[in-house]
Amino acid sequence: MKKLLFILLMVCMQVSLFAGGGKETDLAKEGTPTGKLEIFSWWAGDEGPALDALVRLYEKKYPDVEVLNATVAGGSGVNAKAVLKTRMLGGNPPDTFQVHAGQELIGTWVVAERMEDLTTLFKKEGWNKAFPKDLVNLLGTKEGIWSVPVNIHRSNVLWYVPDNIQKWGVKVPESWDDFFKTAEVLKTQGIVPLALATNWTVMHLWESIALATLGADDYAKLWNASLAFDDPKAKKIWDVLDKVLQYTNKDASSLSWQQAMDMVVSGKAAFNIMGDWAAGYMATTLNLKPGMEFAWNASPGTKGVFMFLADSFGLPVGAPNKTAAVAWLRLIGSREGSDAFNPLKGSISARRDSDLSLYNAYGQSAAKSFQKDRIVGSLTHGVVSNENFMSGFSNVLEGFLKDRNTTFAAQATQSLASDTLLRK
Ligand code: GAL
Repeated sequence: MKKLLFILLMVCMQVSLFAGGGKETDLAKEGTPTGKLEIFSWWAGDEGPALDALVRLYEKKYPDVEVLNATVAGGSGVNAKAVLKTRMLGGNPPDTFQVHAGQELIGTWVVAERMEDLTTLFKKEGWNKAFPKDLVNLLGTKEGIWSVPVNIHRSNVLWYVPDNIQKWGVKVPESWDDFFKTAEVLKTQGIVPLALATNWTVMHLWESIALATLGADDYAKLWNASLAFDDPKAKKIWDVLDKVLQYTNKDASSLSWQQAMDMVVSGKAAFNIMGDWAAGYMATTLNLKPGMEFAWNASPGTKGVFMFLADSFGLPVGAPNKTAAVAWLRLIGSREGSDAFNPLKGSISARRDSDLSLYNAYGQSAAKSFQKDRIVGSLTHGVVSNENFMSGFSNVLEGFLKDRNTTFAAQATQSLASDTLLRK
């Protein structure tokens, strides 16, 4: 059944290649926005405050527009992306939607010619200079630029509560070997060493372990096919993951990422590896003080490397209210919009001219790391791989959680990569 759906999706995408769309439109000529604007994302509930701040700003600027803040809950967009797919393929796109910069955008909606080219808007707003060149490259192809970034998030972060770490007499692990020693000490005290949540967070953990095991150069090689996933070096990722999983909570698959974070906050668990939306959750939603009531390090073995991802919004072909959507894109790409959103979200601005005094201790430290660290792209959050690889890979991980067969997992990933990543 899954296979059939996949084939259908591919056929639809091929058909759409001939259905027009994706041509550069003169977005700069758009008039005063009125009517309804549907903004589609997965920033619901606990994840909502930063988006709400942007929406409020938009409503103030454009009082004649009625904003429909359409969210589908589920961390990393697991549910929202499926709903979006149905809507896009059914010819019912929202006015604008959240999508990760990189292969999630390019390998899915851009190849299917479902996005409007925003090159004119980028020129008019000065965004080619305002955003780092490498980021603009991830949003573009030879044919155009396809979305506007609203932030930069970091994926490889280890979170903890300093007082608890001290109370339990352990140190924050710098490497996975350190972690295994620390974990034994924590276990004797009845503390879960590493909190884990539902399946996509296992992929999130995998990418941090991959970076630690391979280093930045070899990690990057996985994505341009110069290092095989079943190479002995890459197989080691699975060995480490297998061992790490022994130190995680048994109910992981039924928890949201916020609930795994709560385990750390309440002292049931010592550490959690999660993107820095966790900083937004702890500082904005739980009202905890960064650096005091929660703290962070690079995930074990990844010091000096910033595994990044960026949320962006695009303009789908056939958006019902293009004028209002373009006004939204202008706002999220502006300094004002970006600096209203990011201090609450836990991310940093994608713009180079952001006002760092508006950010808390975490945001300021992330901005510093982003300047000096080596940058690599996240797998789980759409930078380095397309949706086909990601959905196949989550099946491989699901199998691995059941059988813990490291050799099979490495081979299955390589064969998936040959089918989805390497075939251009
Ligand atoms: C990521 C997204 C973040 C945050 C996180 C948890 O994919 O980029 O902004 O929403 O998922 O849901």
